[in-house]
Amino acid sequence: METIANILNDECIGKEIQIHGWVYRVRSSAKLCFIIVRDHSDVIQTVGKIEDLTEEQFKILSSLTIESSLEITGIISKDERAITGYEMKIISFKIFQRNDNFPITKDQGEEFLLDNRHLWIRSREFNAILKIRSTIFKAFSEFFFNSGYYEVHPPMMVSSATEGGSTLFKVPFFGDTAFLTQSSQFYLETFIFSLEKVFTVSPSFRAEKSRTWRHLTEYWHAEGEVAWIGNDQMMDIEEALIKHIIRQVIKENTHELNILKRDISVLEKSLEPFHRMTYSELIKKAQNLGLNLKFGDDLGADEERAIMVHFDKPVFVTSFPEELKTFYHRPDPENPGFILCHDLLAPEGYGEIIGGGERIWSLDELKGRIQKAGLKEEDYYWYLDLRRYGSIPHSGFGLGLDRLCLWLMKQENIKEVIAFPRTIRRLRP
Ligand code: 4AD
Repeated sequence: METIANILNDECIGKEIQIHGWVYRVRSSAKLCFIIVRDHSDVIQTVGKIEDLTEEQFKILSSLTIESSLEITGIISKDERAITGYEMKIISFKIFQRNDNFPITKDQGEEFLLDNRHLWIRSREFNAILKIRSTIFKAFSEFFFNSGYYEVHPPMMVSSATEGGSTLFKVPFFGDTAFLTQSSQFYLETFIFSLEKVFTVSPSFRAEKSRTWRHLTEYWHAEGEVAWIGNDQMMDIEEALIKHIIRQVIKENTHELNILKRDISVLEKSLEPFHRMTYSELIKKAQNLGLNLKFGDDLGADEERAIMVHFDKPVFVTSFPEELKTFYHRPDPENPGFILCHDLLAPEGYGEIIGGGERIWSLDELKGRIQKAGLKEEDYYWYLDLRRYGSIPHSGFGLGLDRLCLWLMKQENIKEVIAFPRTIRRLRP
């Protein structure tokens, strides 16, 4: 049994080969019947000719419906008119299941396709999206394994917030309340005292009421934490990471990027050095662009889109005012009121894909920030312990992998790059 992608070459011409897959399209006339078959790897045009088959066989083939499953044995020839340049003449076949009505036909609405996502993921476009997504996830882990990091596995059910209480999901927990994790950052911070350089790829949950093109309630979060380094070094690592992922996607998925009509030369721009600017500089830039933003404003999806359509490669934004970020970020000793952190904004209007920075490592400073944020010290006793026993400077980051997929594949909505999106209005399929 061969994959379709493997038989689309001149070496297979004239050979008898067996494939299996699903009917992608059918077209028949009195004497010929064209069945385009797909498998995970590609599609090929197969042709049943009345003179090569029994009447019964020809009838079965010409009445096949899309998504029926089958096995075909046939001879390969070159044919420029065929969808992928080669054709298979059918000698024999076996039908596993003939469908009556596959629910997805042409021109169906967005909600219908979301309700039928379990079937829609078979489409050629979604197959390409899933393959690119797989490369992105692989490249992320590969980058860190190649750099001497350890993968760690923090819990998803937790007892306290990292990113503020308003977006916490509550879960009953044997008479108590647990929360679904918003970020594994605090646990990664515990691991560095044993392993120094760690990463994890796991789901994070945000009970955000936001219904934007870039928010999921369950998303895939790739986080790293590194001992002994500061904000600038953290950004250097992230820049190398993003470039590695882009290179791998271009190398492994040119075919899929073409299916999605993604312009690879635009992606290649992001292999050049990223821009770096402070929050204050970004606000000035936004004002110069005529946007109604002032110092102190938090940037949401719309504001970032309006700014980032003007950039063709990523921008690191640093030195945010203290009030805009969560309590664990380290205030800049040389720049009071500002913190040593960064966001990485993706170009072409996509905006934030990474949040990261240096963590507070002094016990008193952290206690002060916890108090100021109105949080209870006892909820963070173990996080505070890290500042009691051998505390060290360290930095980390969280990358929204679905958002990275969204940008790299240039899709319009984050729901298009995850098979089974969870949003404020969607829990099925
Ligand atoms: O900026 P955030 O909230 O930062 C943290 O959670 C840090 N504790 C991470 C860390 O330092 N370890 O989230 C990080 C990234 C964002 O930049 C964004 O890409 C993604 O997570 N993200 C979301 N992606 C999809 N849907 C949502 N609702 C998201 N919220 C955040």
